[in-house]
Amino acid sequence: MTTLTPAPSAHTRPSSDPLHLIDVDHVQFYVGNARQAAFFYAHCFGFQIEQVSDLTSGSREAAHYLLTQGNIRFVLTSGLTPVHPSAMEVAMYGDGVKDIAFTVFDAEKAYERAVSNGAVSAYEPRTWKDERGSVTMAGIKTFGRAVHTFVSRTGEYDLTKVKQGGLFMPRFQRVEGSPCGGAAGCGPQGGTGSAVLSINEHNRKHPCGLKYVDHLVGNVELGKMNYWVKFYEDVLEFKMFKHFDDKDISTDFSALMSKVMSSGNNLIKIPINEPAPGKRKSQVQEYLDWHSNTPGVQHLALRTDDELQSIAALRARGVDFLTLPDTYYEHVWERVNGTLKAHGRPEVKEDHKKIHDLGILVDADDEGYLLQLFTRPLQDRPTLFFEIICRRGSQSFGKGNFKALFEALELEQARRGNL
Ligand code: FE2
Repeated sequence: MTTLTPAPSAHTRPSSDPLHLIDVDHVQFYVGNARQAAFFYAHCFGFQIEQVSDLTSGSREAAHYLLTQGNIRFVLTSGLTPVHPSAMEVAMYGDGVKDIAFTVFDAEKAYERAVSNGAVSAYEPRTWKDERGSVTMAGIKTFGRAVHTFVSRTGEYDLTKVKQGGLFMPRFQRVEGSPCGGAAGCGPQGGTGSAVLSINEHNRKHPCGLKYVDHLVGNVELGKMNYWVKFYEDVLEFKMFKHFDDKDISTDFSALMSKVMSSGNNLIKIPINEPAPGKRKSQVQEYLDWHSNTPGVQHLALRTDDELQSIAALRARGVDFLTLPDTYYEHVWERVNGTLKAHGRPEVKEDHKKIHDLGILVDADDEGYLLQLFTRPLQDRPTLFFEIICRRGSQSFGKGNFKALFEALELEQARRGNL
């Protein structure tokens, strides 16, 4: 039985600090067809399709699906008109992450503080209110097409209530538990209601064990990494947590550089990648080429407390993971257990053969070890992917795997004609 790693504490800074982040409120994706994307993330990754906001709930411009798992909330958004920003951005970038939203005590104050720190506004504070409570949101621009929204909540829309199944915000309806109980032809799902109910039930019985967003990575243009590092320091008052240069992250052919920014309470870490010159094309450059040369979120790392169970469950659902050559496992135990021993840390307790059979990657540092695995791109363009990560003391990002991983990625790039 594994112990649950708690999400980082929200209460390490006083509530009077406007940029004190309480939680990752949600991650919003702009997608071509939110109803269909909801089924993809539910089927492949075990999310609950929990709430919806669409024409039937008075949302005339866009459809939004709230998907949940552990403390992860995804909002999948599709424009219902050709001029909705989601429709326009999907044409430019394909499906991907638009917004990494943070819960704060006062969204307006957080926004004002960020703007006075030098942020460019994405949109001004706006409040949605009804008899249950209110939700205030305000957004600032970050790298490329991405934004950070500050969210503050009152009444029934308080995040603790949302986590217990309360409504996400005005104009959202529960897919299950609504007065009609998901009966045919009733409620937001109309004719697909029973399909949602059955996938939700299946996912409750067969959990994938994903708990929260551990980190998310932004890909920025050549020469812009330090600009965005300073942005996170100045605007959001983050600190640099770690950095990797092209000597750490390179093969004979391609390279990148990365600096990891962390919020004051370590609630969220945001590594910023930029391509580095190599003989062939960096994976970051491939991303930019297929993302209209615009920075954006490269991957979301989702945390589990049991990597083997999660990866086995995701593989059984057909999730497509990157494959490393078998030779990776010839040296991994010597490397990882050698590092752990040198720092007096316990050896990897998970079954080594199962790790190999499931194709999981392992790395260690002075604080412990981590288990990780990366999906292939989640859409047709080689842009957004997920990482499934389990930490056993290590707070790093798998530096010891970079070389093997990048060689595997180069094979993928070559398959796509993009190396
Ligand atoms: Fe990562």
